Amino acid sequence: MKRPYEKPVINKLVTGLMNKYGRSPAYSRKVRSEIDGVPVEELVSKHGSPLYVYSERTLRQRYRRMYGAFSTRYPNVAFGWSYKTNYLAAVCAVMHQEGSLAEVVSAMEYEKARAQGVPGNRIIFNGPHKSPAALEKAAHEGAMINIDNLDELYDLEAIAKKLRRHVHVGIRLNLDSGIQPQWSRFGFNLESGQALEAVKRMKNGGRLVLKGLHCHIGTYIMEAAAYGRQVKKMVEFAYEVEKSFAFSIEYLDIGGGFPSHSRLKGSYLSPEVSLPSIDEYAEEVGRALSSALRPGDVPKLILESGRALVDEAGWLISTVTATKRLPDGTRAYVADAGVNLLFTAFWYKFNIELDREVGGVNEPSVIYGPLCMNIDVIDEGILLPPLLRGTRLVISPVGAYNHTQSMQFIEYRPASVLVAMDGTVDLIREAEDLTDMTRREKLPARLKAEGRGA
Ligand SMILES: Cc1ncc(COP(=O)(O)O)c(C=O)c1O
Repeated sequence: MKRPYEKPVINKLVTGLMNKYGRSPAYSRKVRSEIDGVPVEELVSKHGSPLYVYSERTLRQRYRRMYGAFSTRYPNVAFGWSYKTNYLAAVCAVMHQEGSLAEVVSAMEYEKARAQGVPGNRIIFNGPHKSPAALEKAAHEGAMINIDNLDELYDLEAIAKKLRRHVHVGIRLNLDSGIQPQWSRFGFNLESGQALEAVKRMKNGGRLVLKGLHCHIGTYIMEAAAYGRQVKKMVEFAYEVEKSFAFSIEYLDIGGGFPSHSRLKGSYLSPEVSLPSIDEYAEEVGRALSSALRPGDVPKLILESGRALVDEAGWLISTVTATKRLPDGTRAYVADAGVNLLFTAFWYKFNIELDREVGGVNEPSVIYGPLCMNIDVIDEGILLPPLLRGTRLVISPVGAYNHTQSMQFIEYRPASVLVAMDGTVDLIREAEDLTDMTRREKLPARLKAEGRGA
């Protein structure tokens, strides 16, 4: 379609907007009128604004692409869907249909996976806080429990004693893979000998059987080689515990941490340029496994990728509800979605697209959310033409960590929909209302009487 003529304008260069890479592509104006073929306006008219929209096609494509990258390089691969990344039931169901185990990090997530129909033996139970009751249930149901600390190890020994059987477990390792800062607060440290001591303690206790090793080196890891170093250390440790304590390791769970193509604040190169491809990560892992494992050894390789699978499958549609000029002349907008729904706004520079072509001169603008809180900013410095009240903003990628961390704070949480492969739109979570806020509140009788000032 021919774009309408616009008068050329000369803009004064403002320090800070340019850099040695030129203007960041994040500032260029884009239009997105549909998501997987469904018009944005239709989605909003049926389900309201703001609205989380997920693409089943993207979810399945990304899963298959990533699973293919690893399984073509190593014959024994399983994925564990990281629930905390997005535990909307429909999103989890797509992952489970694709063959994924559930990876949970709390009793709440464990219950959610069970309620979803996932059997205990297809659940990986991670995390630093697992109550004795949660551990007992998980042990009873045959979950893969990765021990985080010695107290948990003792709890599990007591549970094994009570259940009068051995309990199979894994332990979480933290190690130096070259990534800084090192995530050393979870699990047992490898290099200091702490992890080996824990396994020794397990062996001496005689009630737990070590079956797996787990390690998650961090999130948004931009260096593929870090995974190669991690895997090599894990395999060497597996052989060490086999030699010293006769435990045979059946699974190596290397966690997640693979980046999505979201843009981190302050990065000028586009993620397409600055990030390794998923094949490069898989290559590092595959190569490390084949060089470190003894011929014939094929332990299960488990991956718990979250962000890389779901981030780009999610959008948030928001609406401009007011336009402003700040005292310094900056153009500002108030949108109906803010950090209450976009937790990752603190470190992502989102793609913010308009649902239609808007004419006029671009100006550096600020987009505020709806909260009466100074921190509620979605973007500062985005170049936008003059927007009218009612303009739709299509914000992406938001599939990872935004819905699970959304807050019922000042505003209700909005609806979520899933666009199916055939373009059908299913409501997968209703918009909240007052009953969601008040359902569990109790008002003491003495406070029910009218006050003096009433
Ligand atoms: C144990 C564990 N596994 C998997 C993940 C998923 O990480 P990501 O979304 O970076 O792939 C996390 C996230 O922090 C985690 O802590």
